[in-house]
Amino acid sequence: MIGILGAGSLGRLWAASLPAGKVAFIARPGESPGADLVYRFRPFDGPESTIRIPFLRASDEPELLLVTTKAGDTVDAIAGIIDRIPQSAPIMLFQNGLGSQQAVAAQWPDRPILAASTTEGANRPEPDLLVHAGSGDTWVGAMTESARPSVGRAVAFLQGTGLAIHPEPDILQRLWQKLIINAGINPYTAILDCPNGKILAASFYQDTIDSLCRELSVLMAAAGQGKETPDSLRQRIERVARSTAGNTSSMRADVLLGRRTEIDFINGYLTRLGKDLGIKTPVNQMLTERVQQLSSR
Ligand SMILES: NC(=O)c1ccc[n+]([C@@H]2O[C@H](COP(=O)([O-])OP(=O)(O)OC[C@H]3O[C@@H](n4cnc5c(N)ncnc54)[C@H](OP(=O)(O)O)[C@@H]3O)[C@@H](O)[C@H]2O)c1
Repeated sequence: MIGILGAGSLGRLWAASLPAGKVAFIARPGESPGADLVYRFRPFDGPESTIRIPFLRASDEPELLLVTTKAGDTVDAIAGIIDRIPQSAPIMLFQNGLGSQQAVAAQWPDRPILAASTTEGANRPEPDLLVHAGSGDTWVGAMTESARPSVGRAVAFLQGTGLAIHPEPDILQRLWQKLIINAGINPYTAILDCPNGKILAASFYQDTIDSLCRELSVLMAAAGQGKETPDSLRQRIERVARSTAGNTSSMRADVLLGRRTEIDFINGYLTRLGKDLGIKTPVNQMLTERVQQLSSR
């Protein structure tokens, strides 16, 4: 049995992709949903179907936990249900950005904590409709040395879902690569209220992107994540902005829906890291504050 904590877009995608009968959502503490969770699933290709997923029963012992809450909810969400998860069960974190994964690994150092980086895309245009909008890859790796032996077992559980999943020896590096792209696209789309590709021509972007990439380059090197020039980071950010030109980033979508964004785990994480390492990060800080202001309105 695989338990999923967080019945949102990504949690529902994994639930729909795993074999029926092998997966259950985990309710919040104190909530005891009587009925299964039922929703329509529109796959990347193929016909729509109806998915029915039960909630974990008191007698169920998950062999693997997938955590698909937003980064800001993750530590509290796990704390609420950790007593239901056997000590040996790998806990796989799907959050974007960085900071929440380290917080979970620090809070439960004796648990096999894994992190996943995924390029799958899922959204819920209606509450009971899950759309698999983009088909991609998922890499899974250990957040701590002691979790390394659990990676193969956890990946094996998820193979056969139809979603491409791979073990990753250096998951932190992969999370950093995604962080760089998110840091260079997401806040601009939220502040400018535009799809990804439209940021490139905006003067706010053009006036700040080189300084941002200088900060990113220094932070990466100081964090032991390799040397990349600001120019090559800018090129990478712009390649992704062009190839996803029509997409609305999750950060812009969160602002539009009045939901808390994950800025604290993207540019906010980089700002905190800069403070810890004595590196100035005025552009990351400005982007963080601008997005925080938008979502507090
Ligand atoms: N969606 C994607 O395509 C995608 C792709 C890559 C990475 N990610 C990352 O995956 C994470 C989840 O994204 P998402 O799009 O699936 O977000 P989402 O749709 O907002 O789903 C998060 C779910 O977690 C639930 N939740 C919050 N606190 C909980 C708790 N204490 N116990 C149980 N459930 C709780 C939320 O319930 P309420 O709504 O009731 O609060 C919501 O259903 C994010 O970090 C995101 O960046 C998503």
